[in-house]
Amino acid sequence: MPQWMFDQFGHGGDYNPDQWRHIPGIFEEDLRLMKLSHCNLMSVGIFSWAALEPEEGVYDFDWLEKVLDGLHKNGVSVLLATPSGARPAWMSQSYPEVLRVSSARVRNLHGGRHNHCYSSPTYRKFVNRINTALAERFGRHPAVVGWHISNEYGGECHCDLCQNAFRGFLKEKYKTLDNLNHAWWTGFWAKTYTNWGQIESPAPQGEQAVHGLTLDWKRFVTHQTVDFMNAEIEPLRRLTPDLPVTTNMMGTYRGLDYFRFRDVIDVASFDSYPTWGSSRESDEEAAVYMGFCFDLMRGLLRKPWILMESTPSMTSWQEICKPKRPGMHLLSSMQAVAHGSDTVLYFQWRKSRGASEKLHGAVVDHVGHEHTRVFRDVTEVGEWLQKLTPVLHASVDAQTAVIFDWNNRWALEEAHGPRHDKQYEQQVVEHYSALRRLGADVDVIDMEQDFTPYKLIVAPLMYMVKPGVAERIEGFVRAGGIFVATYWSGIVDKNDLCFLGGFPGPLRKILGIWSEEIDTLYPGQANGIRMNDGKTYECGFLCDLLHTEGAQVEAVYTDDFYAGRPALTRNSLGQGEAWYVAARGERAFLNDIYAKLVVRAGVSLPEKQPAGVLVNRRVKNGKTFLFMMNFSGAEQRVTLPAGTDMISGEKTGGYATLPVNSLRIVEVERK
Ligand code: GLA
Ligand code: ZN
Repeated sequence: MPQWMFDQFGHGGDYNPDQWRHIPGIFEEDLRLMKLSHCNLMSVGIFSWAALEPEEGVYDFDWLEKVLDGLHKNGVSVLLATPSGARPAWMSQSYPEVLRVSSARVRNLHGGRHNHCYSSPTYRKFVNRINTALAERFGRHPAVVGWHISNEYGGECHCDLCQNAFRGFLKEKYKTLDNLNHAWWTGFWAKTYTNWGQIESPAPQGEQAVHGLTLDWKRFVTHQTVDFMNAEIEPLRRLTPDLPVTTNMMGTYRGLDYFRFRDVIDVASFDSYPTWGSSRESDEEAAVYMGFCFDLMRGLLRKPWILMESTPSMTSWQEICKPKRPGMHLLSSMQAVAHGSDTVLYFQWRKSRGASEKLHGAVVDHVGHEHTRVFRDVTEVGEWLQKLTPVLHASVDAQTAVIFDWNNRWALEEAHGPRHDKQYEQQVVEHYSALRRLGADVDVIDMEQDFTPYKLIVAPLMYMVKPGVAERIEGFVRAGGIFVATYWSGIVDKNDLCFLGGFPGPLRKILGIWSEEIDTLYPGQANGIRMNDGKTYECGFLCDLLHTEGAQVEAVYTDDFYAGRPALTRNSLGQGEAWYVAARGERAFLNDIYAKLVVRAGVSLPEKQPAGVLVNRRVKNGKTFLFMMNFSGAEQRVTLPAGTDMISGEKTGGYATLPVNSLRIVEVERK
């Protein structure tokens, strides 16, 4: 597969010159401003279908050629987009089959974007034709360094074509209706299917109670999206085998299992829209959460990725759209680089004049010149990226992994009981945060990935355990790894059928415990956890009621009828240990456990810094680049390692002051 080989840090963003074609001078001005802000990479043509094919079969590519030529002459490279994210009105009018049908079986009107049926042969044909034409005409253009496939794939279609494709997917998977009926437990409420045609996707006015069906539908949506994406990419691979392809993803977006994109794309890319300066969370919390998304995007392929979109100032779609405070643009852009991004790209280059994104932040504002705070901030990022060339393509050597698994999430969120609010993502992030705040580099992976690169693996709420996973965990632990599981784990198999014979199912032997019951606490209710050394913490939400079966008790509950029963256990197995966190504990509880576990696991950590200063490392050819980022909202005194400051070129060491929203990047001296 071709690699992302761009030989500089990419800086730039979504560029929509087709919106401005009728205004003379704008393109030339864009080129001047790109140079001024050190921009070298633009994603072009993302929503240009109406400009590229104004009538069926009539292509107008000349304007795009001028744009690519002009960019190339000015040292700007291009991620060329396929335009399937939005389609021209003529197509919906002539071929309504391309329009999406909602779960309530209502066909959409033309409008918005991302509103297509991914099964429609007509839509696939049009996409294939225009992608072929783009690849033929521009695949060897010297400006083009990669393909930007569609835009933020998402949503689902319930039309007849999709129902048939769903049935085909199920036939392939289960072979017989008997197998399907068994896997979906359709004896329940007289659900038994007696022919394939009776199967329909879940609907608000139809079936919602068969969890196996719901789960398989979600899997199918990913399957069909990937199938569509493969069909989109086919002409590009054929005509431009050397160009890497990517598609921009939305982090933890619920609707698609991004891990299934792994075999299709050459490089992962991510659209990042944190809410800085909010009154609901601190900037440090927002940064840790963004770090989680970055590590998930990097975790997909376990290699550097592309920050495809971020706003240079504010968005236009969040409840409160707040511009970045001074320093935050540089700091947050560098945070993506610290987590393995090889670009800093924005949505968008020039602010559109009309329609729903006319107030969305952009490098070039409506005022039209470079004398703005945002433009200066962007230019500063461009200057920094030029100095960071030695960091380009460097990896992140994560020795810890946190498991975030879409199949598990779907099954767990769908379960009725033990409570409505499942908060899976939030709880995974709680564990991740404790590790991140210690400075550990973390890969976020699903349960199907290779466990061998890690020393510590955390699997919060591993409700579903897919086949073979327990065996791989056991191998990991026996070989010396530390594995951490939590409450509400090992409940169902891959078909969402409960494990018989005691929870946590196949993890029971590895963890040396049996969970007999689970207590569910109302908001405001709490229990306590007392560690063996006497230290106590609060816990709540879900509390497992355990019996040990070989595990050591490290902490017990303090209250209620299960006071004195295990709340934290450790099972030694081979060279390693399997820990069970029986309840959702307060932040200090997780911080303290992980401070201990990283040491036990021998995870390499950078020197400790004050709270709110996040530290990341990238490594390349034996060199370590250390990023020290102050998200605390206050000035901080930090310890700098001996080395060279990548920006000032000065030698580092001893103490330094980090002002609010600032960072240092140090090439660490080899010991
Ligand atoms: C998404 C889309 C962009 C744009 C931005 C606005 O990420 O991919 O086209 O709409 O949001 O923030
Ligand atoms: Zn459809």
